[in-house]
Amino acid sequence: KEVYLNGKWLKPDEAFVSVFDRAFMFGDGIYEVTPFYKGKGFKLKEHLKRLQYSLDQIQITFDAFSLEKLMLEAIDRAGLHNADAAVYIQLSRGAGARSHFVPEKIETSILLYAFGVTLEGFEKKTWHVMASEDKRWYRCDIKSTALLANVMANEAAISAGFHENLLLRNGYFTEGSHSSLFFVKYGVVYTHPEGPEILSGITRAEVINICASLNIKVIEKTVHFDELVEVEEVFVTGTTTQIIPISSITHHNKKVYTTRKDSLTKKLQEVFIKRTR
Ligand code: PDD
Repeated sequence: KEVYLNGKWLKPDEAFVSVFDRAFMFGDGIYEVTPFYKGKGFKLKEHLKRLQYSLDQIQITFDAFSLEKLMLEAIDRAGLHNADAAVYIQLSRGAGARSHFVPEKIETSILLYAFGVTLEGFEKKTWHVMASEDKRWYRCDIKSTALLANVMANEAAISAGFHENLLLRNGYFTEGSHSSLFFVKYGVVYTHPEGPEILSGITRAEVINICASLNIKVIEKTVHFDELVEVEEVFVTGTTTQIIPISSITHHNKKVYTTRKDSLTKKLQEVFIKRTR
């Protein structure tokens, strides 16, 4: 296994960044995780486009699409051409004396590697989740490496025996700590509109597209906590999560939702499997 770091392919235990790297000191970096089904990149261009968006938003001048070749090479070098895998890309603003002021001359630092993941069998899973206040910043559309609030939310869920934490901003569901979030109400699919409150998930976009192909109505509108009584199905999506139904939601130690149906989620999973394999 090798990782690509600033122009070199290195063994992981020989790949080091400076202690003054700004992603390390400030979380001043962005990242992307792209799935590869049996060696083939899924929505690779969309992932690179989102990476470019993150770079542009934090004003790092870099051509995200120049990384496409390296992504394929990473899969190749890791011997994952026939396996399910993902490629992690991280760009840091670079290393410089610790200061809030960004030095004029600073070199973008690039880390990229492939790793094996289990993508098969997701359709057999269901998740019990909790819900809590969304304590993240107001630029969740940037795929920033500064993930402390996400990590804390996920840890709160895991330590209490849940699979994920659904986040609430002013009583409205935004997304999971590491997944996009969907609700089904009277046969209509709802998901938070794109904007600073959520990451514009690539799997989310694919699910919206699948719904269109099945003539299922999607409304990109926030769902309030109080609407849970009317909700029939809940599911989360993500690159490695794919599409997983939520069987229950617990809030302040009280079960506030248990699944009522699963037929729509099942339909979406079926089409998703066909599109990815
Ligand atoms: N996480 N929302 C958040 C906060 C996420 O971290 C992720 C994915 C998603 C789903 O986006 P996508 O479908 O593009 O993967 C939504 C990645 C996989 C991670 O941090 O590892």
